[in-house]
Amino acid sequence: MRSKLVEQFTEERMTAVDAVIAEYREQPGALLIILEKVQDVTRYLPVELQRYIAWKLEMPASRIYGVATFYSYFSLVPRGRKVVKVCSGTACYVKRAEEIKERLKQKIGVAEGEVSADGEFSIEEVRCLGACGLAPVVVVGEETFGLIDPENVGEILEKVSS
Ligand code: FES
Repeated sequence: MRSKLVEQFTEERMTAVDAVIAEYREQPGALLIILEKVQDVTRYLPVELQRYIAWKLEMPASRIYGVATFYSYFSLVPRGRKVVKVCSGTACYVKRAEEIKERLKQKIGVAEGEVSADGEFSIEEVRCLGACGLAPVVVVGEETFGLIDPENVGEILEKVSS
């Protein structure tokens, strides 16, 4: 199981994953921290990696899957260093969020669930970000962009790239 993960993530990263598990495995309730720190290393938590963590922690893989799919912080698909989150909530949707997403995908050169060739960006559609007054909204890392004009989505990428 580990050798396949090494092929996917490199030995260095899997050693870091093992170190995280070893550091926190005896702490009760540390599953969230473990998954967070592992995702910091691997950038996402595919099912094979979840199975590996479950095996190391001697717990059912379904428990890991439950946590990884419950929190939007975790991703089961690869992510870029910068995740572009496009809100698809009602307020944003009616203000052309779909068009914004399509334009961003085109500019970055990825489909949803893909990572740009340089590993920099990926795009995700998310539910209401709680900033409906600023609709349509896009969040990149810690930065929130509101009242976006679909014609000017390139400016967002310029800002977060600089
Ligand atoms: S619908 Fe987009 S922020 Fe609420």
